[in-house]
Formats: sequence, C-alpha cells, structure tokens
Amino acid sequence: MILQKAKALKGEITVPGDKSISHRAVMFGALAEGTTEITHFLQGADCLSTIRCFRSMGIDIENIPEHNRVTVRGRGLDGLKQPVDILDVGNSGTTLRLMSGILCGQTFSTRITGDDSIKKRPMNRVITPLARMGADIESMEGNGCAPLLIQGRKGALNGISYQSPVASAQVKSAVLLAGLYGNGPTSVTEPYLSRNHTELMLKMLGADIEIKDTTATVNPAPKLHAEKITVPGDISSAAYFIAAGLIIPGSEILIKNVGINPTRDGILKICRRMGADIKIENVRNTDSEATADIYVRYGELKGTEIGGAIIPALIDELPVLAVMACFAKGKTVIKDAAELRVKESDRIAVMVRNLSRMGVKVTATEDGMIIEGGNPLKGGVIDSNLDHRIAMSFAVAALAAEGETEILGAECADISYPGVYSDLKGLIQG
Ligand code: S3P
Repeated sequence: MILQKAKALKGEITVPGDKSISHRAVMFGALAEGTTEITHFLQGADCLSTIRCFRSMGIDIENIPEHNRVTVRGRGLDGLKQPVDILDVGNSGTTLRLMSGILCGQTFSTRITGDDSIKKRPMNRVITPLARMGADIESMEGNGCAPLLIQGRKGALNGISYQSPVASAQVKSAVLLAGLYGNGPTSVTEPYLSRNHTELMLKMLGADIEIKDTTATVNPAPKLHAEKITVPGDISSAAYFIAAGLIIPGSEILIKNVGINPTRDGILKICRRMGADIKIENVRNTDSEATADIYVRYGELKGTEIGGAIIPALIDELPVLAVMACFAKGKTVIKDAAELRVKESDRIAVMVRNLSRMGVKVTATEDGMIIEGGNPLKGGVIDSNLDHRIAMSFAVAALAAEGETEILGAECADISYPGVYSDLKGLIQG
C-alpha cells in the first residue's frame, strides 16, 4: 500500500462494529438459550475466526456480511459439541483466551491453535488461573503458548478468588467464563480495571455477576438467555480518524455511533489533555454500552505523559497515540505499557523502529517510549509486521508525512477493519 501526504480529511464516517463486543456476542450467544440477533457485527478476520470455531462446535450461526447481521442459535451452557478438528483462532487472542475459559467447563477435549503470531503470545496468563480452578489445560509444546490442549472438567471446576498480575480483559473473561461452570463464586481482581464488556454482556444475558471497583465476581449460572445485541462502532477503529483529523491541517471529521464505554475511552481523555479540539455529542445507550458521535478538528497539540490506570483504557490505541505525539509540541512519555510487547507484535519495538524510519526522535523504554514531537515526518518504507494496528497507525502517519510512504503487509488491517484505507481515502479533500 502506497500513500501520499493528504491535504485535509473532511466529512462523516461510521466505523465498523466493536471487535471485543462482536466476539462476545457470538460466544455468549452460543451459550445462551434461544436466538441471538447481532447487528453492526464486525466482519473482521478475528471475529470470523470466532464464528468458525463455534460453528465447528455445532452452533448454527448465520452471517449476512452485506448487512453486518449475525444470527446465533444458542444451545445453552452445555450445548457445545466436540469439534472434529483442532480449533483455529487465526490471529485472534480474544478468541483463544476467552474460548479457553469456556472449554474448561465442557465434557470433551479440544485442541486450539492459530497463526504464527498467536503461537508466540503468552498463554500461561490464562493457564495458571484456570488450572487453579481445577481445569485440565496445557500448552502442547510446553512453552506456555498455543497450541493448547484442554480436557473439559464439567462439574469439577472450583470457584476461586484470583488476583490477576495483569490488567487484561482476556484473562479476566477467561476466568469468569470458567466460573459460569464452577462450584462456587469466582472473582477476579485486577491491578487496574480493564474493559468490562464480558461483565456487562453476561449480566444482560441473566448471569449473576457483580462488579465492585477492580473486582468482578460471577456465580455459577444455571442458564443464560438470548437478547438482541447492537454492536457500537469500535472506538479502537475510530481512533485512526480521531488522530488523522487532529494532525492533518484543515481536517474536520464527525465519527458517528462510537462506543464510549469508560473502560475504553482513554484516548478521548488523552486527546483533551493534549489540547485537541474534540467534542463528544449525542451520547446515548445501546443495550448496556453507551455510544456517541465524536467530532474532531485539526489544531495544535502538546505532548503529555500517558501511564498508570488509564493504560488498559487505551492499550490498543497506543500505536496511533504515538503517531499523534509526533505532531504534538514537546515530549510525550508512554509508560506502564509493557503489555504492548506481547500484542500481535512487540508494539514498542515495531513502533520505535518505524517511527525512526520516518525521522522521528523516539526512544524505546522497557514499558513504553519517549517521543520528541513537533518535527515534520518524512515518508518511507514501513513494515507492519503483519500487525493490524501498526499498519493502520502508519496509514495515518503517511497521510500527514512529507512525500510517499509504503506500508508492507497493509492488508493485515482486515483483522479488525476491512475497508479502512478506502474509508480514510474517502475523506481526503482535493
Ligand atoms: C481484548 C482485550 C485486550 C485488547 C484486545 C482485545 C478483549 O487484550 O488488547 O485487543 O476483547 O478482551 P488484553 O486482555 O490482553 O489486554
């Protein structure tokens, strides 16, 4: 993909459905009794992996991609069937980790694998707490990574109180989902609150779940019921338009119907702190998740420090925030974000390498990076490392940089946002 410097981006855009919520709607719909109708479902490759896995466990799922509408015919908590083949989650950590929690409570054994990136990502973070519940789950190659082998232990899982060392919604969700099959209450306490879509959706479907500060507690569920689920626009996808609108001179963009769950809205807070012209309009609720329209306009930005409790609320937006920081006056420090090193790629190393190639003064630290902003970026060849968020972040950087930029492996954006490049180009003026 080759991109040139853009004049200005103007207009309105509706981004695809939230990835985290789309995954959960399929998974929990499969475990519910009745038919779950999902609208504004994300047709990204990751969510299609979730559909594929649950179809191979006997769930009837109809997907109408032209309308982003999915119908899941749930079979109840004990209705999954043993898949014939190894389950393949592709690139999707959410599918792998959440499904692990569910599979520990079944009566059959399953093997799960995925692509080269997923096979390098740490799975001990779910294996450890699930094993503590009495689950039979192991890394088949003994390296703490996928492929995983899970022997379901329905009726033999104990409720636990788990103090998670990481603020990770995937870990929290895996444990809570296994807790649905436990012999007593299961709680997870996190160092900082991570996204709470699992808790909100399970509650909506009738689970007995309580949230207090950074602790979520679930009681074993006799059953879940089906509901209509409308997926809000993904704030992580909106982030590319927010950033483009703020750093490309003359831009003005209205992003409609974006999920603004407070466990996800860190980017909005940081934009304000950087002095951005950003407005949240028309706030409304769809199901249990709030949505709003986000208006952004180009203006001067100043550097800031990003760290602490806000990190989980913007973890996936840090690559594009780093791009924004290059256009802000002064220094931006990103810290407490070591989790970036174990995402689809080592996002600290990959961001620093690619930003340096564009002429940015940037230093990697163990848990983040330091960016000296305010100097013009120059186009160059960028390696996405097949990480969708890196590819999209550099598409934004490319539109704001001098000259021409080539992004290698840009098509990996299909993981979370098929059509992102044409949506970006569609707003370019002149
Ligand atoms: C996700 C949780 C986050 C996030 C990922 C999606 C989820 O990962 O980075 O893109 O849907 O639960 P961690 O739980 O590993 O922080």
